[in-house]
Parts: sequence; C-alpha cells; structure tokens
Amino acid sequence: MKTISTGIKGLDDMLGGGLPSGRCILVCGGPGSGKTILSVQFLYNGVTEYNETGLYVALGESPTHLKEDLSGFGWDIERLEKDEKLVIVDASPLRTIPRHVNFGKVSLGKQDFRMLSLIEVIKRRTKEIGAKRVVIDSISSLILQYPDESERRNAVLDLFEAVTDLGATSLITTELRATALEREVQTEEFLSHGVIVFHTFNEGGRLIRAIQIEKMRGISHDHQLRPYKIYKNGIEVFSKESVLAST
Ligand SMILES: Nc1ncnc2c1ncn2[C@@H]1O[C@H](COP(=O)(O)OP(=O)(O)O)[C@@H](O)[C@H]1O
Ligand SMILES: [Mg+2]
Repeated sequence: MKTISTGIKGLDDMLGGGLPSGRCILVCGGPGSGKTILSVQFLYNGVTEYNETGLYVALGESPTHLKEDLSGFGWDIERLEKDEKLVIVDASPLRTIPRHVNFGKVSLGKQDFRMLSLIEVIKRRTKEIGAKRVVIDSISSLILQYPDESERRNAVLDLFEAVTDLGATSLITTELRATALEREVQTEEFLSHGVIVFHTFNEGGRLIRAIQIEKMRGISHDHQLRPYKIYKNGIEVFSKESVLAST
C-alpha cells in the first residue's frame, strides 16, 4: 500500500508511515478538538514538503473565518492560494442561503443542492488544480439532510467513491456530539477506508486530548489512544506516550 505522509510526525508514526494513498479517511471529533487544524496542516504540509496541491472544501465555516482562525499558526495560506497550490472552495453558503448557491460559475438552487452537486464541484476543482490532497470540512451538516438511513448511506457512498476515483487522498471531517467512547458508530465510518477519532477526557479537572486510529484498511497501524496537543504551529501527536482513561 502506497502511503502519503501527513507531515505530522507522531501521526505518521502511528500510521506506520502515512495515510493510504488515494483513499477516503474520516476525521471524527467534538467541536474544538482540532479537526480543522489537522486537515489544514495535512494540506499545508503537502504543499510545502511534497509539492502536492491541495483542495479544501469549506462546509462548516466560511473561508474568511477559517483564515482568521488559522492566522496565528504561521501558515502563509494566502501565498499558497496565490500560487494555486491550495484552493479553498466556499461551500458554506449551503447552510444559510435560502435561494441559490454559487460556486464560481456554477449556481445551484437550494432544492437541487444535494450531495451530487457538491461532488461535481469537488471533481471539477480537483481536476483543474491537480489536487493530490482533498479536505471536506465538515460533512455533518450535509448528511443531516438525509434522515433516511439508506439515502444517507447512498449519498455518503457516492461522495467517497467520487473522491476516491479522483485519485486524491482525502480527509473528511465529521462532528461528534456524544463523547467519542460512548458514541454510536455512524454509517460513514463503516463506509470510509479509515477512521481517525479525537477524544477528550476530563481527568481531575484537567483536559486530556487523545487521538486514536480506529481503522485504516490496508495498513498495520497503532490502535492505542495517544495524547496530542494543539500548539501555535499546529497539532503534535505523542505516539510513544499512552493515555490512561479514568473509566
Ligand atoms: N494558537 C493556538 N494554540 C493552541 N491551541 C489553539 C490555538 N488556536 C486554536 N487552538 C485550539 O484549537 C481548537 C480549535 O481547533 P479546530 O481545528 O478549529 O477544531 P474543530 O475543527 O475540531 O472544531 C480551539 O478550541 C483551541 O483549543
Ligand atoms: Mg472545524
């Protein structure tokens, strides 16, 4: 299995080198757990260390807010955008605009805006820029549009298959509401090639963050919970340390 380095050393160590190339990986975690930071770091490292172009599809927050949130990390995102090494597609209007959604030259009625429309945008932009790394952040609001389990399954499968067909390695984030240990496994987790979960523990009033690779098809990986921290230059994973959950 060809692997693709995330550029986050501790995480690459847990993966035995990197993510499986060309596959769809889910990143699940609660609000503020670091899903966006990890995803952007994956894209940023791709450009700066491997000269691989990245596509970031913003579904959760607008690109303006995204850039504001990430402005303290010392990543020159605007430079990468100017060089067309990193393209940020704003898909966030999907949640708020009542009549239509514009993606560059493509305008979509809200009623028509379904997973397939999003897929078309991702396909087009990925091909245009030759993206090797794709991030979709996050699909939670989109899949909530499918209360019916079989429709949701089909929509998620369509998305995963389309992204996989493009040959890019993708990180797709989802929001977890229940704590990671108590949650029900969601349809999209069964359908993805890999699942990385962010956990948060409260130990005597102290917040402990831990990351776990729950599944990664085709890769012999670390299954343990490993602590991670968010610093001002991004996420760092401590792949040799363990986490003792109090439960
Ligand atoms: N400069 C920083 N230094 C340390 N931690 C930070 C910094 N900026 C943000 N954070 C942490 O990152 C969290 C947000 O991460 P983010 O990737 O946006 O979460 P998610 O996408 O999972 O909601 C914040 O809750 C905060 O704890
Ligand atoms: Mg986020």
